[in-house]
Amino acid sequence: MAHALPEHGRPPDEILQDLRGFGAHDPNYKDARLWSLVYWLDEPYADFLGQAWQAYSSANGLNPSAFKSLKQFETQIIAATAELLHGGPETCGVVTSGGTESCLLAVKTYRDRARATRGVRHPEMVVPTTAHVAWFKASEYFGVKLRLLPLDDKLHADVSKLESMINRHTVMVLGSAPEYPHGSIDPIEAMGAVAQKHGIPMHVDACVGGFILPFMAMNGVVLPPWDYRVPGVTSMSADLHKYGFAAKGASTITYRNLELLKHQMFVCEDWPGGVFASPALLGTRPGGAYAAAWAAMQRFGVAGYRDLAARTQQAFERMRAGIEAQPELKVLGEPHGPLLAYGSATPEVNIFAVGDQMDAKGWQVNRLQFPDGLHAMITASHLPVIDDYLRDLRDAAATVKADPSLAGKGRAATYGMMAHLPLRGMVRHKVLDLFANSYRAGGPPLNLDAPASEGGAQPPLLERLAARYVAWRQRR
Ligand SMILES: Cc1ncc(COP(=O)(O)O)c(C=O)c1O
Repeated sequence: MAHALPEHGRPPDEILQDLRGFGAHDPNYKDARLWSLVYWLDEPYADFLGQAWQAYSSANGLNPSAFKSLKQFETQIIAATAELLHGGPETCGVVTSGGTESCLLAVKTYRDRARATRGVRHPEMVVPTTAHVAWFKASEYFGVKLRLLPLDDKLHADVSKLESMINRHTVMVLGSAPEYPHGSIDPIEAMGAVAQKHGIPMHVDACVGGFILPFMAMNGVVLPPWDYRVPGVTSMSADLHKYGFAAKGASTITYRNLELLKHQMFVCEDWPGGVFASPALLGTRPGGAYAAAWAAMQRFGVAGYRDLAARTQQAFERMRAGIEAQPELKVLGEPHGPLLAYGSATPEVNIFAVGDQMDAKGWQVNRLQFPDGLHAMITASHLPVIDDYLRDLRDAAATVKADPSLAGKGRAATYGMMAHLPLRGMVRHKVLDLFANSYRAGGPPLNLDAPASEGGAQPPLLERLAARYVAWRQRR
């Protein structure tokens, strides 16, 4: 009988060769064709990070007193982060495995704090509609009801509505710097003032901005207030594995003081395995990620990060200007960088069909909904390809304008259906089915986007829904 596990161990060289082969169909991030997920510089830097990781790949941060090395990395990383975010002398925090863990922790902390200090039993939090999906996940995981702050006509969180959404159940308010969908910094100063007036803690999700906005500001870019200098801000998340250019698996959560952070901690005194204390979500915490994050900070220093920020800013400005110069397209909202989104400026051009054309030209671009759009998380590595991207974008928009039927084909059909189907419960249900099926023992790989013509992975119901949606749109 064939086993999934080889009967006998194989030679390391052969395994490593196989392993590299698996990457053949992964996104092409090394040529800057990918606009999310990866923060790539070059091979020597990747090797350096790999070596830092490898040196501590067996080390475990579960018990901070066991590996003093890891605690030292963590202390230095948090001190540097707090300084960049203009924290005070009491600002403290923890290194986590990523932005999502940092966001989840903030919600758990404030839920528990409100329960302990105010007896809140039915917790709620107010978050802008554009908050990262990690906050929706935290709401579901921790039973904290989401109150979504609506957006104004510039896609900014409408702070004028905030006060009316705070009540005796509110455990926290959230702002982002910047928010993921459109790249704008929420009105942190005004939101912080409202939160402070009501004695509610406010978290700033700077998972994207934490390691680039400080350096943009040092380079002279004028930004609205977004960090601990806003008095109402009580905690912040900032990801090292994004614009900090660390290896994957490194983020930070910091709090204005230890009184707040204490509510994040977990202690179990009655466990037969011993008295147990843990500062974050994970049990075993990967030493390699800490070491690589520390190494990244040492490698760049302030000057290195400023240089990365300057090149990113240049790429961002060129991209924004190039999109604004195309009459069929418009930048969505008012992005502060480093990311932006754009949509169609005319009903003749379906933006998801433009996305399909860009895919066909070898770019890998994320789709947005409410409003429909395409997304670009811009890094310094994109600077050399911006002009090529904009040229292809002009061609793509022209092709779609010349052939409106493209809106009903390929991924455009699926995304159009997903984004516009009024029955959101049905979308949720079908996506859940698809997603779960991709985890079925021996099941097919997940392919939510497979064009209908490729067949196989996309269940017929989803295709039929897409076709019905397209027909409905055409009738209107
Ligand atoms: C604003 C924001 N917060 C949180 C996250 C979650 O980060 P991660 O993917 O590292 O879990 C992201 C990811 O893009 C983000 O953009």
